[in-house]
Order: sequence, then structure tokens, then C-alpha cells
Amino acid sequence: MRKSFGDHQVLRGIDLDAAPGDVVCVIGPSGSGKSTLLRCVNLLEVPSAGRITVGGTEITDPDTDIDAARRRIGMVFQQFHLFPHLDVLGNLTLPQRRVLGRDTEHAVAVARENLARVGLADRAAAYPSQLSGGQQQRVAIARALSMGPEVMLFDEPTSALDPELVGDVLAVLRELAGDGMTMMVVTHEMAFAREVADRVVFLDGGVVVEEGPAARVVGDPVHERTRDFLRRVLHPAGVRTPPPAPSP
Ligand SMILES: Nc1ncnc2c1ncn2[C@@H]1O[C@H](COP(=O)(O)OP(=O)(O)OP(=O)(O)O)[C@@H](O)[C@H]1O
Ligand SMILES: [Mg+2]
Repeated sequence: MRKSFGDHQVLRGIDLDAAPGDVVCVIGPSGSGKSTLLRCVNLLEVPSAGRITVGGTEITDPDTDIDAARRRIGMVFQQFHLFPHLDVLGNLTLPQRRVLGRDTEHAVAVARENLARVGLADRAAAYPSQLSGGQQQRVAIARALSMGPEVMLFDEPTSALDPELVGDVLAVLRELAGDGMTMMVVTHEMAFAREVADRVVFLDGGVVVEEGPAARVVGDPVHERTRDFLRRVLHPAGVRTPPPAPSP
């Protein structure tokens, strides 16, 4: 699959697959095309060339019903994109009613079930502004889940959060993975990738430089570019491990 914006080729021949229930983590430097890749899978961007298939349906086929295809794919963004004027329950029920045509009773039941799943059963009446970033992100996840997706895409779901809120969101992702959800997660959380991902894909300059089992790609990368990137992510500039104390 390829994607260009004008004559800027952003994705230059990506060939990836995920089996049902797989968790694929996508890592790579800023500008490498991670978001564009996810946006293509959800048809928020139309690939310039190539095909994308979800659960046996080629969603890039011009004859495919794009709205129906999109409904099978949930997406969660770095910024939560909740409706500020609706309470949590409203955020979860509106898309179900509008897009899936569910009646209110059905939509509310599904919403409550998914709020419980992300640990927010008691916040249904809160407005987004009354919630922490981590809670807002969990609401966004519950909203996506309420649409009954077969695949969930996460684009840096914890990057906008204060460090102490990251864990709650990752716990939800971990649980979803455990429940067998097929997931693609763009993340800089290497410990999470290593623990939860079946596969890690390292993207750089619009190509897959390296992919494989998480423990191998994160723990023992083959390519110099991957090693370089991991060094920078794991040891950001300015944060140096102190030298060992001199022995007396
Ligand atoms: N709508 C667009 N029009 C033109 N260029 C775009 C568009 N979207 C993305 N790009 C370009 O595509 C390249 C890849 O962008 P993308 O957002 O996919 O990178 P990324 O890996 O997600 O980066 P980051 O880690 O900063 O989120 C960048 O050079 C970006 O400027
Ligand atoms: Mg991005």
C-alpha cells in the first residue's frame, strides 16, 4: 500500500497483516507515517495505491460500502475528540443512534456495559471537562467499543496524558487485548509494546524497516535505524543514567 500527498510519498510500499486477535504495535520517529498508516486503514485517507482488507472485505474496493466498512473499525486518537457539550452517556449513545440506528434503550445498555469495561461505570453523567485526561481517553475507548468494532486502531492513545494517568489507559488496552480484540497501536510505550504486542513494526521514512515478535524487535533489534530509534525513545536526550559510583 502506498500513500502520497501531492508529490510527497509518505507511505512507500507497506505490506502488513494482522490475524484476528493480534495486537500489532507500530513504532517509529515523528513523520515516519504512523498516523497516515492508521488513517488509511480506517479510510480517513484514501491510499494512493494498493489494497486494504479488513475481515475478508477489501475496503479499498470502489464497490465497497465505505460507511459499512468503517463501522467495523474503531479509532482512538491522541486527543480524545469527545463532544464537550454532551455528558459521557451522550458521547457514547449519540454515534450508536446516529450511525447504527439503535434505539435509546439499546444504546444506553451498550454504553453502560462499555463504561464498566473501562472502569468508569460511575461517571456516566459527567461532562468531559469534569474528567481527567486519562478518564476522557477511557471514555473515547468506550465510545469506540460501543460501535461493536472488529478492529481497534489507537494513535498514540497515551501521549497527551500526564505520566500518572498513562497506566489506567494502558490497563484498558491490555484487557482488550486479553479479550481477543484485533488491535493496531501506535505507541512510544516500549514496555507496553513488549508486554502486550504480538508483533512490533518499526516504520521509518514510510517503509517498514523491521518487524517481528515484540521481544525481538524491542529487545534485540537487527537494524541500526531501529536501534538508534529505541535508544532515543528509551533514553531521551538529557536523561542520562548516572555513571556507577566509584568503588571506595
Ligand atoms: N494531510 C496531509 N497533507 C500533506 N502531508 C501530510 C498530511 N498528513 C501527513 N502528511 C505528511 O506525511 C508525513 C507523515 O505524517 P504522519 O502524521 O503519518 O507521521 P507520524 O509518524 O504519525 O508522526 P508523529 O509521530 O509526529 O505523529 C509527514 O511528513 C507529514 O507532514
Ligand atoms: Mg502521528
